[in-house]
Amino acid sequence: MFDHDILVIGAGLAGMRAAYTASQSGADVAIVSKVYPVRSHSNAAQGGINAALTDRGDDWEDHAYDTIKGSDYLGDQDAIEIMCREAGSEVISMEHMGVIFNRDEEGKLGVRSFGGQRQARTFFVADFTGQALLHVLHEQILKIGARVYEEWFVLSLIVEDGECHGAVVMEIRSGEVHAIRAKAVILATGGLGRVFEPSTNALICTGDGMALAYENGAPLMDMEMVQYHPTTLKANGALLSEAARGEGAYLLNSEGDRFMQEYAPNMLELASRDVVSRSEQTEINEGRGIDGCVLLDVRHIGETLINEKLSQIRQLGIDFANVDMVHEPVPIRPGMHYQMGGIKTDVNGLTNIMGLYAAGETACVSVHGGNRLGANSLLDTLVFGRRAGDHASNVVRSRQHSDAITDQYAERERNRLQEMLNRNGGGELFGKIRLDLGEAMNTHLAVYRDQQGMETALEELKGLKTRYDRVIVHDKGKTFNTNLIFTLELGFMLDCAEAIILGALERKESRGAHTRTDMPDRDDSNWLKHILIAKDENGQPDVTYQDVTITQWEPQVRSY
Ligand code: FUM
Repeated sequence: MFDHDILVIGAGLAGMRAAYTASQSGADVAIVSKVYPVRSHSNAAQGGINAALTDRGDDWEDHAYDTIKGSDYLGDQDAIEIMCREAGSEVISMEHMGVIFNRDEEGKLGVRSFGGQRQARTFFVADFTGQALLHVLHEQILKIGARVYEEWFVLSLIVEDGECHGAVVMEIRSGEVHAIRAKAVILATGGLGRVFEPSTNALICTGDGMALAYENGAPLMDMEMVQYHPTTLKANGALLSEAARGEGAYLLNSEGDRFMQEYAPNMLELASRDVVSRSEQTEINEGRGIDGCVLLDVRHIGETLINEKLSQIRQLGIDFANVDMVHEPVPIRPGMHYQMGGIKTDVNGLTNIMGLYAAGETACVSVHGGNRLGANSLLDTLVFGRRAGDHASNVVRSRQHSDAITDQYAERERNRLQEMLNRNGGGELFGKIRLDLGEAMNTHLAVYRDQQGMETALEELKGLKTRYDRVIVHDKGKTFNTNLIFTLELGFMLDCAEAIILGALERKESRGAHTRTDMPDRDDSNWLKHILIAKDENGQPDVTYQDVTITQWEPQVRSY
């Protein structure tokens, strides 16, 4: 049995920011991560991080308004106000820790334009901003000497009588299972992108935190809101950053037209993501695409600027599409990128389970609503990771470890795993089930949805769950049993998929990324509310609603 004041699950930006903050406040903090920290998916974030800095003539309220409009008025405005107000100091803190942001000609921090925003307020490090932030935070974690359980996999949370007391984890190298007791647990496990195939997300993005919380009765909120990023590669779903359009790229159809003039005459390619993805999909569906894609054209901005600011995506185009964007437009299409929903939390990351927090993509503090603005996710991870770490560190001062928590929790998990490993016949390996899940979700829950497609997805999901109940783990060993890990992840993914489909079927309107061809209008009188899905006492999903918090911006017709 291991003991800590605070256990942070996940070593991406939200997790390490939470751990750093809590540790600075004097708490004994440990991080558990299924990968080496700098392999966390925050590493893949490309374009930048938003902040409205007053000394640059910007205003946090303008940032908040753009975010709220971007969310199609589903974001909670109190949370959005906090995020936008605290953005500037967060970016500056990261700069002081050592992030080498790009600078402008005057030597000041440089900004680029990002979608859905009337000001250029996206701070960036070329097109690998997430990597730069993550490595610097990791250095800070190393410097303060916080304990990191690297390559340990979380099997379950320890929750008793509505209170969280830790987690049961498996050391991947040895297969040993342990209970870690903690006075507070912060889930910072990132997104669930791989519930869809393809996705811009790393293979590790399997919704672990959402499923762990959901299993223990925490509600998942806004799960129907799944973002399709406008510029991904067809071959493997890889992301080509919005930074390309921020630096001036055009989107062209098969006739060579800049088709965004039709859909978003003011902001064109820099309309919000849901709008651009829908526009692209419409062009493709109506026969003005090229082999299921449209074209991203950056040739006019020139090789020097491409190399300076977009070098990673240039290389991605060469490697995976065999196209060098310096010389040719790149075929791209909308691809699954981000889950706006997640574990419902308050603005300090607290869930409905005492001692259990969540931050970053796994959480839904509700700053993204129906559609997240590009470069608001890095901001979300840092602001709400810090706030969760701060709140938890105060709470644990007056909390004791529960003596009732013993090795019995670990023993239960050892038995469960052994039962899985003992299965030998009558079932299949995880891989085909995972692929079928991803393809079903990408077919029926993508940019455009309708009742029939979503019902088909639900039916297919039931079949996949039945197949999963008989799944076989062919590697029976203990050492680095990745076959077992992938199989366990698939269990998390199936739970997340269920919440997405149920939420989507529930929402009888179109809003943000949830666009129904059979119900194309936004319906504020009936659906200006969040959909929450939680397991009831019988383990069945139960749907409830919550009002959207409006502080000062009443919903308006949304156009770009
Ligand atoms: O396009 C991008 O660089 C992605 C950024 C984001 O999702 O925030």
